[in-house]
Amino acid sequence: MHISVIGAGLIGLSCAWRLARDGHRVRVFDSSAEPREASWAAAGMLAPHHEADHDSPLWRLCAAGLERWPGFLQELGMSPRDADWRDGGGWIRATDLADLDRLEASLRWLRATGTDVLRLSAGAYARACSVAAPGVGALWLPGAQVDPRLVLPRLRAACLADGVTEHLGAPVTAIADASLSLADGSTHATDAVLLASGAWTPALAALTGTQLPGAPVKGQMIRLPGPCHLRGFIRQDHRYLMSRHDGSIVVGATMVEAGFDRALDPSASRALAAWAGEAVPALAGQTPSEAWTGLRPRLASGLPAIGRVRQGLWVATGHFRNGVLLAPITGELVADLIGGRQTAALSFDPVIAGS
Ligand code: GLY
Repeated sequence: MHISVIGAGLIGLSCAWRLARDGHRVRVFDSSAEPREASWAAAGMLAPHHEADHDSPLWRLCAAGLERWPGFLQELGMSPRDADWRDGGGWIRATDLADLDRLEASLRWLRATGTDVLRLSAGAYARACSVAAPGVGALWLPGAQVDPRLVLPRLRAACLADGVTEHLGAPVTAIADASLSLADGSTHATDAVLLASGAWTPALAALTGTQLPGAPVKGQMIRLPGPCHLRGFIRQDHRYLMSRHDGSIVVGATMVEAGFDRALDPSASRALAAWAGEAVPALAGQTPSEAWTGLRPRLASGLPAIGRVRQGLWVATGHFRNGVLLAPITGELVADLIGGRQTAALSFDPVIAGS
């Protein structure tokens, strides 16, 4: 089957790669000649347990998504160092004991599922993460991290090696049953279309007459020079930091609904830097060496939409805060669904997601 994947980020490419490996003839389209949207902006924190507050189908998908990452990197031929992979989990920082009690209480459901959750005293936290301000202690949860900027080009190369072709730099202007039209005037025959363009997917869905309500949520991030090396990430509310192999520290992230505005907010950079300095005193006073924003794709349902809209039309979008985490498993799900294999337990019906 000829399949057109619209979107050359981690989600689109992961789907394209699996579909090509299943023997389909896959073309990837992206409006940008050099796609660098959410996949490039993301920190790469793989934190299913830190990002969830109750047992849900999304949490189960995210937990399964984390399990897929080691195999995904192996298939890409990437060593842990190649991907800046670390699986030391992450700490949730508490600012007072009541905070720590509240956090722990809300994580009881995780213990009930058999997930490791450790409550660390200030001393234990200082021993586990010597650069962190021990404060009143922390919780530790399993998780991992990866540098998406390292994975993206390798995934793209893997796609090309498996026969995927690319059409980059021309937006899709029309999607009909058996063809796509691009702004450069070209038309491409296709048997099926997969919409995987992150925050731009609702607009593409509208071209097909499909309602997929959603709005981007901007995240601003900074890099501090460090150097500082952490085994895992540190998180507090929606803020987090993690070290890269060069010792620089990535600090994220804001949550701003401002449409497709990607402007940097200097005060947000200052606030992130100040928080990083509180969490890791060696970072106090450091000036960001880089600041950037990305647009998370959030659907009105708050859930991803992964599946069939109608004959010949599929979507993989709405991954919101979990795009990197869910990229490998989304590729598997989409390939299984299009290939008619059973994935009911983990699929997210786009019709429900869009309703
Ligand atoms: N998952 C982290 C973020 O979206 O900022």
